[in-house]
Amino acid sequence: MVLIGFLIPQSLRAGFTGIGVGAAYQGLRPVIEFMTFNFSMQAIDHIINSAAKSNYMSAGQINVPIVFRGPNGAAAGVGAQHSQCYAAWFAHVPGLKVLAPYSSEDARGLLKAAIRDPDPVVFLENELLYGESFPVSDEVLDSSFALPIGKAKIEREGKDVTITAFSKMVGYALQAAEILSKEGISAEVINLRSIRPLDRAAINASVRKTNRLVTLEEGFPQHGVGAEICMSVVEESFEYLDAPIERIAGADVPMPYAANLERLAVPQIEDIVRAARRACYRALPMTATA
Ligand SMILES: *[C@@H]1O[C@H](CO)[C@@H](O)[C@H](O)[C@H]1NC(C)=O
Ligand SMILES: *[C@@H]1O[C@H](CO)[C@@H](O)[C@H](O)[C@H]1NC(C)=O
Repeated sequence: MVLIGFLIPQSLRAGFTGIGVGAAYQGLRPVIEFMTFNFSMQAIDHIINSAAKSNYMSAGQINVPIVFRGPNGAAAGVGAQHSQCYAAWFAHVPGLKVLAPYSSEDARGLLKAAIRDPDPVVFLENELLYGESFPVSDEVLDSSFALPIGKAKIEREGKDVTITAFSKMVGYALQAAEILSKEGISAEVINLRSIRPLDRAAINASVRKTNRLVTLEEGFPQHGVGAEICMSVVEESFEYLDAPIERIAGADVPMPYAANLERLAVPQIEDIVRAARRACYRALPMTATA
């Protein structure tokens, strides 16, 4: 069953999300499509209270195998109410799984896994990635292909600094890694794929290898995905860190409408390069923020 939110007035979003959750209680596997995740705010009561908590509150008697999907993240020139990343919002909630594909392989493998999963999954796509092409292997095209939930992918191996990213920011991290390689810094790029559950083991293993970490996300910094990753590394591998962890996130403001301010409010490739240099002590303190 697929319920499509495209061009439906905002007030109906709570309604069709509620219908979807009810259908999932009855054993269907609905896919709720929000035209964008901006509008999921109309329906957040159903996502959190009706979908995420029911398995626990029914002592395991009710499963809610539902997928909420749609474009998430900062777009271009749409202002504060239409440009934000909801990864940390939903990843805060026990009972939800939160996935964020970067490539075509991720989108295919993770969406199939989400639909098959017995629990509610928030599936955060990125509108600006819809227009990008990615190479796909025969394995990915095979009808049996699916990806595991909760496993990150090492998109690029490196030995000097780990960069964690998800969704569109994986592409930025890969471009930054290319620039860094010309300076002799070998960056390892982790595509998180799954925000909740988070692949703490993959992050842990990478940081134990590189001894440095830069976290990257588009969302607001406070209580964000980077904050959680930082704490996880402090708990698991603090003594392996050779430099302070660097966090790159969106600016802590509602998204500006003016294009010049908007650019300043979202992470740019040069921000990642500078943070990685700082982590590797390749930047002078005076120029660290220049
Ligand atoms: C919000 O809506 C705009 C306009 O449709 C879209 O470009 C953007 O991706 C959306 N962002 C989120 C977080 O839903
Ligand atoms: C981190 O790595 C160490 C050593 O391999 C291991 O003991 C620990 O369980 C790991 N932590 C996680 C969360 O994987």
